[in-house]
Amino acid sequence: MSGINYSEKIPNNVNLSEDRTLQRALEHWQPNYLQWWQDMGPEGSQNFDVYLRTAVSVDPAGWAQFDHVKMPDYRWGIFLNPAEQDRKIHFGDHMGEAAWQDVPGEHRANLRRIIVTQGDTEPASVEQQRHLGLTAPSQYDLRNLFQINVEEGRHLWAMVYLLHKYFGRDGREEAEALLERNSGSEDNPRILEAFNEETPDWLSFFMFTYFTDRDGKFQLCALAESAFDPLARTTKFMLTEEAHHMFVGESGVGRVITRTCEMMNQLKTDDVAKLRAAGVIDLPTIQRYLNFHFSVTIDLFGADQSSNAATFYSSGLKGRYEEGKRDDDHILKGNTYKVLDVQNGALVEKEVPMLNALNEVLRDDYIKDSMAGVERWNRLISKAGIPFRLQVPHKAFHRNIGTLAGVKTSPEGRVVSAAEWEAKKNEWLPSEQDRAYVASLMGRVVEPGKFANWIAPPVMGINRQPTHFDYVRFN
Ligand SMILES: [Fe+2]
Ligand SMILES: [Fe+2]
Repeated sequence: MSGINYSEKIPNNVNLSEDRTLQRALEHWQPNYLQWWQDMGPEGSQNFDVYLRTAVSVDPAGWAQFDHVKMPDYRWGIFLNPAEQDRKIHFGDHMGEAAWQDVPGEHRANLRRIIVTQGDTEPASVEQQRHLGLTAPSQYDLRNLFQINVEEGRHLWAMVYLLHKYFGRDGREEAEALLERNSGSEDNPRILEAFNEETPDWLSFFMFTYFTDRDGKFQLCALAESAFDPLARTTKFMLTEEAHHMFVGESGVGRVITRTCEMMNQLKTDDVAKLRAAGVIDLPTIQRYLNFHFSVTIDLFGADQSSNAATFYSSGLKGRYEEGKRDDDHILKGNTYKVLDVQNGALVEKEVPMLNALNEVLRDDYIKDSMAGVERWNRLISKAGIPFRLQVPHKAFHRNIGTLAGVKTSPEGRVVSAAEWEAKKNEWLPSEQDRAYVASLMGRVVEPGKFANWIAPPVMGINRQPTHFDYVRFN
């Protein structure tokens, strides 16, 4: 592989052509990455020409270049946001000191763990979504799926760059392992639970990109504050791409809702059976999918009380969301925060040291941000004149991590018995029948400008192209 000009093949702003160590590491890793893409990437799509956005630099003219490309030839690049001169650490015990340009020995293990955990989610979602191309409701949607897939691939590159560049042999081993774990695998699964769930249909995909890619946004925002400057600069650039993923989710769910409301008005009914017979997804089913994806995603923030979270913050590895905009002391030693506890089977609030509750702080910021989009979905429903509101479930609902894992509640947060949970869970979470019904709607629509019956067309196309543009050439 040594004849390859990596600097040409891999768009970058990290001086790749002059960094022999990094080049040598990539010479081993890159062919394995391509093999992983063949084996685990989008199924049956290798030969399609897809209208994709590629980043070739970080400036406004360069980070979004559109063209039809075959995905295995996508130019996965390595980009860091420009360095901030004399950047200082702005939270934790090292506040005021110069940001680190290298990894301090005492934080090496924790930083590696943070980078590996973030890196693991990126290829995981590609694996979770690998069959969806076979049932895309339109060329427009197929293109958006593939755009997200190649960018999650680039996010893997972003984390692998840090591992190769700053973590020596350990880093190279971790980079290999990122290609060896697989979503949902029995013996070598992905690190985090939500990334081992299936994404079996397009409603799940839109919910995933709305809720779970938003978890990505919050994690990346917290890492963009890091004292380890290369991590901060890498994650800042990743955030520019993440915005599109959440857009696909929000507009995707919105288009499903729009189509359902149209049919409800046309048939003048909210009868689930009639709406299903008409081939649209009833609003209660959308609510159950929302409940599932929201609850599984908020688990990703980790235990409500965590000494690791305190260590990561105090040592400057991971900040809070928008750390720079907060007006406390950014050390948080005497501060407290309210978390939920379960006492005698009931939910009660209790105050704990804020440093230990930083996972909960980030989760609460995330919840606020998620609710805003759900309100925008509700506006679509009320504009159609339909008296139905989607609700974000209580944060104790259907939890699997931390204190709340020990309690069963309704979506409103009322503690329920095991018997009531069993009796009601199919009203609260997607049932087998719901999933089978949604699956029955899935079927690939390939003609440009045509959309499956269960989803409305988008308001506009990608990169100012019309909605009937040939976003994917199947060849
Ligand atoms: Fe990502
Ligand atoms: Fe993403």
